[in-house]
Amino acid sequence: MNKVIFDTDPGVDDAMALLFLHRHPKIDLIGVTTVFGNASIELTTRNAQFLHREWGIAAPIAKGAGHAYDPARNGDHSAAVVHGEDGLGNIGVPLEIDLPLDPRDAATFIVETVKANPGEVTLVAVGRMTNLALALKADPEIAGLVKQVVVMGGAFDVNGNVTPAAEANIFGDPEAADIVFTAPWKVVLFGLDVTMQTLMSADFMAAMAKGGDKGLRLLSDLSQFYIDFYRQRVGLDGMAVHDSCACVYVVAPELFEYRSGPVRVVCGGIADGKTIQAPDSGRKYEGSAWDGQPSQLVAVGVQPQKVLELIRDT
Ligand code: BDR
Ligand code: CA
Repeated sequence: MNKVIFDTDPGVDDAMALLFLHRHPKIDLIGVTTVFGNASIELTTRNAQFLHREWGIAAPIAKGAGHAYDPARNGDHSAAVVHGEDGLGNIGVPLEIDLPLDPRDAATFIVETVKANPGEVTLVAVGRMTNLALALKADPEIAGLVKQVVVMGGAFDVNGNVTPAAEANIFGDPEAADIVFTAPWKVVLFGLDVTMQTLMSADFMAAMAKGGDKGLRLLSDLSQFYIDFYRQRVGLDGMAVHDSCACVYVVAPELFEYRSGPVRVVCGGIADGKTIQAPDSGRKYEGSAWDGQPSQLVAVGVQPQKVLELIRDT
């Protein structure tokens, strides 16, 4: 059984990923931590509460960061055009959900849960890396106690989706991402290189939701805004299931191909938030900012149809 803490900013594709984690028989979802990103921290946390209530998810929710790691960053990059004003496709989520939050903040929850389950916890982070960076700051020892960190974020050999250089989760908090990727723990990254190849068409979603499953009907309803965004603004018949790619990896790593090497994040300037990997197979770049950094895995290939089928079947 894979014990997972899901760090998320729901978020339409986050919602799909959450349902996958909740329903996959080989995943034990032991906590959900929220972070600002697709909407404010108040809205992403409220959205997590809403989805938990609708889908009967029992895992505790711990509220996390509302702004970037570096206080000098304003971190306000609204994604309303992608996910709707409310972050869940403007379906009319109630303003308040009567579902108690864990009393701890996200970073404390992560530290305490990892220490209580040494070597067992997979952190799946699909929003800004802020909570993970704060957890590392609070207790660097967790790096040696986490099983692995699985990230949706970055754009390595392709352009970004916020700027030509940067993908949204990294652009929203580059300093936190650089801390997380250079920490001495195993990180596996799913960037736009693979997630933009993993597109779920409107027809696929409709077929998936056609049966009597109430959870899938809600998922389909809240996805329509996001599907429209992809159709009208990106010109694609299909929504990228970014965050689900990271979740699928936990149970089916064979559906992706990887490249190993240190990963760093550009902090500032016109390439702010750009993720770069120095492949282990290439030059060593002695004396540079890559020298001595831990080797991480970046997904560079994907079998999209098999990923979509696993999501559907789960
Ligand atoms: C990432 O940004 C968010 O909009 C999505 O939820 C995903 O995590 C894609 O760039
Ligand atoms: Ca997300």
